[in-house]
Amino acid sequence: MQAQVSPVPGAAPTRNAKLLRWVAEIAALTQPEAIHWCDGSDEEYDRLCGELVAAGTFRRLDDKLRPNSYLAWSDPSDVARVEDRTFICSKSKDDAGPTNNWVEPGEMRATLHGLFKGCMRGRTMYVVPFSMGPIGSHISHIGVEISDSAYVAVNMKLMTRMGAAVLATLGDHGDFVPCVHSVGAPLAAGAKDVPWPCNRDHKYIVHFPEDKEIWSFGSGYGGNALLGKKCFALRIASVMGREQGWLAEHMLILGVESPEGVKHYVTAAFPSACGKTNFAMLIPPPAFKGWKVTTIGDDIAWIKPGEDGRLHAINPEAGFFGVAPGTGYDTNPNCMEAIKADTIFTNVALTPEGDVWWEGMTKEPPPKLTDWTGKEWTPGCGRPAAHPNSRFTVSATRSPSIDPAWDDPNGVPVSAFIFGGRRSSTVPLVAEAATWDEGVYMAATLGSETTAAIVGQVGVVRRDPFAMLAFCGYNMSDYFAHWIEMGRKVAMPPRIFMVNWFRKGEDGRFLWPGYGENMRVLKWIVERVEGIADAERTPVGFVPKHRDLDWQGLEGFAAERYLAISAIDRSMWKQEMPLHREFFDKLGSRVPPAMRARFESLAGALG
Ligand code: OXD
Ligand code: MN
Repeated sequence: MQAQVSPVPGAAPTRNAKLLRWVAEIAALTQPEAIHWCDGSDEEYDRLCGELVAAGTFRRLDDKLRPNSYLAWSDPSDVARVEDRTFICSKSKDDAGPTNNWVEPGEMRATLHGLFKGCMRGRTMYVVPFSMGPIGSHISHIGVEISDSAYVAVNMKLMTRMGAAVLATLGDHGDFVPCVHSVGAPLAAGAKDVPWPCNRDHKYIVHFPEDKEIWSFGSGYGGNALLGKKCFALRIASVMGREQGWLAEHMLILGVESPEGVKHYVTAAFPSACGKTNFAMLIPPPAFKGWKVTTIGDDIAWIKPGEDGRLHAINPEAGFFGVAPGTGYDTNPNCMEAIKADTIFTNVALTPEGDVWWEGMTKEPPPKLTDWTGKEWTPGCGRPAAHPNSRFTVSATRSPSIDPAWDDPNGVPVSAFIFGGRRSSTVPLVAEAATWDEGVYMAATLGSETTAAIVGQVGVVRRDPFAMLAFCGYNMSDYFAHWIEMGRKVAMPPRIFMVNWFRKGEDGRFLWPGYGENMRVLKWIVERVEGIADAERTPVGFVPKHRDLDWQGLEGFAAERYLAISAIDRSMWKQEMPLHREFFDKLGSRVPPAMRARFESLAGALG
């Protein structure tokens, strides 16, 4: 389809009345210089990337070293999600709950009106229709993002199914989630733009859960700006899921197949930057001959009950927006292959040859780089070359590990839910919940040491229930209740496990090798589902003894070392329990009785 540019939505490639009305309304408010309806074609992508190069936002990388790929450096103030500027504006404050920032919707709408008035002056307004999930799937939903950022438009092309095919599915009467985004930096006539426009003083990431609307102002970065991701697929979708009887989760989805051809799908929730992409693309160690792990998604799962009595998951996204630092051929070869070409990099370092580099990509850093702030960098200069939250954006289809069913409109049946945090002590390598409600409790009390994916202090333990603290669009206690209910709703609910790859020894070093070796835990998990693996009953759940895991190829990992990462240290757990209580107390009176009951039974079992 031809790209369409027009100052009014008259030339719009749709007759959907709601969409036309809304685009006209937002254009009248924001006053862009032009309107461009994205068709999602490769030509459009190439043209917009070319314009971003001309504007200084993108640098095209060397075509031999990194074909068809670009590097963007953001404004140094705009590098991560801004949780303290993220709002859930439900009618009642209690419906947002104590874990979300809340402002009365009328008041917030007035604030937004003031901010968005004329905010796109001098800029093109992109209308980006996208499908979260395979186009036309009964599990999928459509959104339309209006943005004054071409960077957003091209990232949305990689991260979602985007463009003309979505408008065709939407038809004249279909419904969609409206998402309005502005970098908040109007351009005066004739003024020269900066490479990364944003608003340093005002940032607002706003959700209206009853109206299913998203408004984002002031940031061009990641989850703040690519509104299909955290804003729609998690915060708004979690509300839709509660209303309609399904789950929107901060989970990767992977397939694991035994040499005998028995295949299971599992989903896993980890807080931001805890290695979800690595786990989703895991390559089993050589001793696990014939075992295969395949990827459906690395960040978000939408999970709906199927007619077969099981829960079925889709990846609503179509690409990976992964954390670059720590990604290398030693940690995630599948990912390194995926990002060899056709990739957008943000805030990583540039090599003199025109390629990219970040900490952890190779053991030895190159002798000279330009860092993510554009300054000369040499090893040992005392600054990181790449920002710790620097990212790559790449289409899912580029991953060698992509699962044949990744685009299946019916999703894949889920055998197990895994919940993991970054904990240097207390939490064992793996444990299985004895019952659904005990599993919900495990997930509800998940704690993790914070990372650079959000603005704030790094390395402190915070409760991150279901890894959804920043992403649940309604009251967290009601969310727990919804999970409890979902377990009753399906005949064959998945089994629930918790894992911790991050336990440390007295020397402060990680005890577990992680990465591909996590296959040993994954194998035990699917064998528990199959009913063929043993475990020991402990107060916190079923924990494998040393002999219950497959150690082929890792015989050097001493049994005592395994004990150090799997032991349930009652004194540590007794220190942990008051934190659970404190968290439930903070959540208030809506915490489901089943959670309080499990608290009492666990505390009792710990003695
Ligand atoms: C992400 C995050 O970007 O969780 O996936 O922060
Ligand atoms: Mn995430």
